[in-house]
Amino acid sequence: MRKLLEDYMNWGFQLERALNYEVVDAQVLDASTLSGIAFVGMGGSGIVGDILSKYFEREIDIPVATIKSYVLPRYVNSDWLVIAVSYSGNTLETLSAFYEATRRRAKVGVVASGGQLALLAERRGLPRVIVEKDYLPRAALPSLLAGTLGLLNKLIELDISLEKGVEVLRDFSALNEAENLAKYLYGGIPVFVVSESFYPVGLRAKNEINENAKIASKVEVIPEWGHNDIVGWEGNPRNWLRVVAIKGDQDPAIDFAIDYLRELGHDVRTLEIGRYGYFETVLYGSWLVGLASVFLAGLRGVDPEVTKSIEKYKEFVRSYLMVTQDYVL
Ligand code: PA5
Repeated sequence: MRKLLEDYMNWGFQLERALNYEVVDAQVLDASTLSGIAFVGMGGSGIVGDILSKYFEREIDIPVATIKSYVLPRYVNSDWLVIAVSYSGNTLETLSAFYEATRRRAKVGVVASGGQLALLAERRGLPRVIVEKDYLPRAALPSLLAGTLGLLNKLIELDISLEKGVEVLRDFSALNEAENLAKYLYGGIPVFVVSESFYPVGLRAKNEINENAKIASKVEVIPEWGHNDIVGWEGNPRNWLRVVAIKGDQDPAIDFAIDYLRELGHDVRTLEIGRYGYFETVLYGSWLVGLASVFLAGLRGVDPEVTKSIEKYKEFVRSYLMVTQDYVL
């Protein structure tokens, strides 16, 4: 528990170091004409794809996909840039999609702390960023995000900086807010409501609560929320649901949702995560919910670091992929 909490508390320092990660072999790849960009990765690494896709869908003219599967969609071909992100470098879904991308001769880059993925990238001379080790994947978000952006900056000639994020991640008033959030969530099922533009933070919140605090949780996204989930709240308010509205920008629809849920008798907490820009807001929001999930684990008396069920699932995937794929992982 203590190490994970310290790792989260030190996110500002982690990000500061990550801004200087070396991008290796970027020059081997010609990404001047691309039909699309795909991020492949799972869980705490896959969230990087969610964060970047949401950003790029408003900034660039080609499709950007997040793939959380061992299956690479058919539309990904040799004109696509595929970035495989896996903190351990050993996640089989990510390795499987990576192999398939190289088989299709897509332009492939890698972000990992080591493992098979880093080894394969080195052997094949692929563009890569090797991030620092010794974190749990979910605690390495600043490294993975900065590493992936650093790689993209080089490959497709962008100039995106996360520098202001360092300052945001040193605003330790977040600790108090996270502790209060954990107290509010304790004993209930967290339901995060978020606008579509900050969906990655809502998803991150759900995942952090699942993995660190070991409880079920869900995330609802506006505007889709208003077309189905909204009806589900018409029944009697349940006192075991804990609603948290995550506000990253001014979206009147989220205020509508807050008012609607309050009218139904729900005690809706609001997290104001908006900071300088998209990335600072996402980093701050992810930090806040990460800290809250560790505090909640403390209140529940569970170890936030151990994720036995994920290991069990990974064992299953290994046996499954061994018999269905024609290459040895
Ligand atoms: O946060 C976690 O520990 C998990 O969600 C992992 O990120 C997930 O299992 C994938 O592993 P990796 O990030 O090493 O590819």
